[in-house]
Amino acid sequence: MKTKHLVAASLFFLSSFMMEFVPGLLAQENTSPSAHLALTPPMGWNSWNKFACNVSEDMIKNMADAVVKSGMKDAGYQYVNIDDCWQVSRDANANIVVDPQRFPHGMKAVGDYIHSLGLKFGVYSDAGSKTCAGRPGGLGHEYQDAIQYAAWGVDYLKYDWCSTTTQDARASYANIRAALDASGRAIVLSICEWGTAKPWLWGKEVGGNLWRSTGDITDKWTGATKWPDGSCCSTGMLSIVDQQVGLASYAGPGHWNDPDMLEVGNGGMTDIEYRSHFSLWAILAAPLIAGNDLRDMRPEIHDILTNKEVIAVDQDSLGREGERVRKNGDAEVWVKQLKDGSRAVVLLNRGSAEQEISARWEDLGYPGAISASVRDLWQHKDLGKFTGKFSAPVVSHGVVMITVKP
Ligand code: GLA
Repeated sequence: MKTKHLVAASLFFLSSFMMEFVPGLLAQENTSPSAHLALTPPMGWNSWNKFACNVSEDMIKNMADAVVKSGMKDAGYQYVNIDDCWQVSRDANANIVVDPQRFPHGMKAVGDYIHSLGLKFGVYSDAGSKTCAGRPGGLGHEYQDAIQYAAWGVDYLKYDWCSTTTQDARASYANIRAALDASGRAIVLSICEWGTAKPWLWGKEVGGNLWRSTGDITDKWTGATKWPDGSCCSTGMLSIVDQQVGLASYAGPGHWNDPDMLEVGNGGMTDIEYRSHFSLWAILAAPLIAGNDLRDMRPEIHDILTNKEVIAVDQDSLGREGERVRKNGDAEVWVKQLKDGSRAVVLLNRGSAEQEISARWEDLGYPGAISASVRDLWQHKDLGKFTGKFSAPVVSHGVVMITVKP
């Protein structure tokens, strides 16, 4: 009898515990369709940097083919994203109308083609009344558009910030995330608000998977100059990098700072500078969204974009964004902690003459006395064991990128 009572009492306690606490535990778990997206920085291709408004079904399909043929897919690039200018108007029911000349078979056909190659499909819209190229924006049509995107098989939405007048950025992006989730499809949300309202402070909370931390990148080494109309700014690659300082703690799996898309291969920088650009994006755990014409890449450009050792740094599953730990004039050291405890390091020479740059163990968070193995990620070569520091000559506008493993 005693045992019987004990069992009954235990069952009673167990069931009341479950009734009281388990629903609470379940409620805490994020069950939205977008809960586990972008656990590493998104990788893909986007039309804007090279083609601007000149997008079409044929070009996008050819580019998707090129992602596969060039080996970019094997290197990890996944998304094929159409930026601005695919949309022309809204119909009588306010449904978004796709440019019938440029996309004669509609967007679902494009998405189906991209999916048939094992890739993912992205589109662009805007939180305001108009996109930055003056096409119809999403304001007031968020739920309607989200259903449409889901029906097309969209996997990634870049949402811009033009024509937003007095809108609140945080509320506007929370709204489109809710609309995307209500469609039932898992869709990456790329917040393109240019850093104006400090999206790193609220981007994660509203369900953004990445957020632009700066204005648009320009295909040049450095500098920020006003556009001819007086607005700010045409910003070079290093000036964009400088704006990332202090933002590292806001990034992590599922939510990334986005210093804008890659310009590698677009012609405005030297190959040495493009190598620096790509290395810095990797150290920053930045989304790697190529923006060049993949159909006719020079081998040098191909080798930059598909360097698997550098990509592995970007995609490291710990999800730490790297930081600048030392700056001596034109010489900089950037460090990113990796999951296995090792460090990826970029020695960057911003100057016009070659110089020697050192990564000191204490700048990497290691005691100076330990010995660590160094590997060069561009030469694909183990350089041996070093104690206290590693020094190397770095060419003008170049980098040496290494991993340091105790
Ligand atoms: C803004 C964005 C760019 C691009 C254009 C399209 O400038 O920041 O990345 O999407 O709009 O018009």
